[in-house]
Amino acid sequence: MNNLEKRKLNHLKVFNTYNPVFSKTVTGFDKYRFLPHTVNDISLKDVKTETYFLERKLSFPFMIGSMSGGIKEAYQFNSDLSAVAENLKIAFALGSFRPILESGKIMESYSIARKNAPSVPILANIGIGQITKGEWKKGLLSIIDDMELDGLFIHFNKLQEYIQKDGNTNFDNLENEIKKLIDEIEIPVIAKEVGNGFSKKDIESLINWGFKYIDVSGAGGTSWAKVENLLVSENKKINSSFFEWGIPTSESLKYLTSYKQIFSIASGGIDEPEKMAKSLAFGANIACSARFIYQIYYQKGVEYLENELMKWQKTLKAIMYLTGINNIDEFIGNKEILSEIDE
Ligand SMILES: Cc1cc2nc3c(=O)[nH]c(=O)nc-3n(C[C@H](O)[C@H](O)[C@H](O)COP(=O)(O)O)c2cc1C
Repeated sequence: MNNLEKRKLNHLKVFNTYNPVFSKTVTGFDKYRFLPHTVNDISLKDVKTETYFLERKLSFPFMIGSMSGGIKEAYQFNSDLSAVAENLKIAFALGSFRPILESGKIMESYSIARKNAPSVPILANIGIGQITKGEWKKGLLSIIDDMELDGLFIHFNKLQEYIQKDGNTNFDNLENEIKKLIDEIEIPVIAKEVGNGFSKKDIESLINWGFKYIDVSGAGGTSWAKVENLLVSENKKINSSFFEWGIPTSESLKYLTSYKQIFSIASGGIDEPEKMAKSLAFGANIACSARFIYQIYYQKGVEYLENELMKWQKTLKAIMYLTGINNIDEFIGNKEILSEIDE
């Protein structure tokens, strides 16, 4: 197992024994409550949560977040999770493609996803580190074609790379390479953070660089600074203030959703259905969750996870019903159904 494969395995293992989440920083959704609206003639049977994402139909606006691939252990994980995505008709994001771009020999842990989930959106993922090094040119486009992938996430993870042993801190040519990639690739390219959130200035830059899809991946859920810090030797340990580094998901989402032309994705600490529903009411077109999914899968198994996510859809439907909205397009970005709680 090479160093990259070891790190990918450790990234999963950390979540089996620790809960590396922000200690003080929260997503910010708890500051809001839904406003009930029940004096109307809306019936539960008419409430529809279905939507479209990347031209494929979803039963509700939800995606399993980018997590794994490229190691033996990821095969069963991606196989099980993509089957859940197909059964529930939700989107599925694969973990970083760096291992395939670097060694080329571990396709199955990714390609199993399309075999198991022929009808839902499946997304690829690479990091800004692979972009500056030009690694995306090594066959990424043909893999995307062969697997009939629907979108490509690019993760912006400067803090994570800063902590990692041999992490990349040289991003000299990033803007040009990203513009070239967006130009060359035929599927939508989506910018994402990894749990530290994008600032207003970041979002402006992403839009100027050509992104039309952005996932805030804000602070309040997984703290990758904590994860990476656990995995480095004593002399690479960082100041603990970085464990709380970032912009809460709701705040980053507020900046993002002011750009109506951009497809907005909410992630970072979305670990229960009411937060998902609030992020949609804030204006996210789709919500996405990572750590919560991994830990439920690891601790309780795939059937439990599938049932749990079915409850997320049911809860969203109930919230729509009880706020008096029967279709998802009217629910998304409908700030009138949220009120800020005065402390
Ligand atoms: C086990 C695990 C592995 C992850 N691997 C990746 C990855 O390969 N690429 C990526 O962009 N993000 C990766 N992430 C980050 C998530 O996609 C997400 O942006 C971040 O964890 C915040 O969401 P959360 O609070 O729901 O976990 C991973 C997250 C987890 C929990």
